[in-house]
Amino acid sequence: MSTLNINGSVHALAALGDPPANTRLLDLLRDGLRLVGSREGCGANACGACHVLVDGRSVAACDTPLWAVQGKAITTVEGLPARLRQAFVDEQAAQCGYCSSGMLVAAAALLAAEPDPDEARVRQALDGHLCRCGAHNLIVRAVLRAAAHRATA
Ligand code: FES
Ligand code: FES
Repeated sequence: MSTLNINGSVHALAALGDPPANTRLLDLLRDGLRLVGSREGCGANACGACHVLVDGRSVAACDTPLWAVQGKAITTVEGLPARLRQAFVDEQAAQCGYCSSGMLVAAAALLAAEPDPDEARVRQALDGHLCRCGAHNLIVRAVLRAAAHRATA
């Protein structure tokens, strides 16, 4: 394994100090590449804060070693469509914002697979993403807003 594809750019691992293959993807993103939008909450694949897209699937970067993403397309919150992020801004769908990147990534995976989800489906897709501030209802509204704008774009 010598390169990783992140947000459409190829990164040579040699330039990042040749990290061991079992290095957590989250550590490479945050410490190696300074892509600090992906947050660490639980560090145990239980809160959703660190999620990124791997070949379009929302996965926990805290529980994903580098060897598992070889040859795959990784997208972090920094690489998501501006329209989705703007919907969160428009709905003011955050308080502290700690959960936001994971919520955005889960929403992006949902909308790519299902462009016009209903509220129940959005809630199901975000299940497992914890928000300690209780902003869930605003977040669901933001995802529905993004879907609606996409339909009319
Ligand atoms: S930090 Fe990865 S799921 Fe909580
Ligand atoms: S906005 Fe604070 S954890 Fe969700």
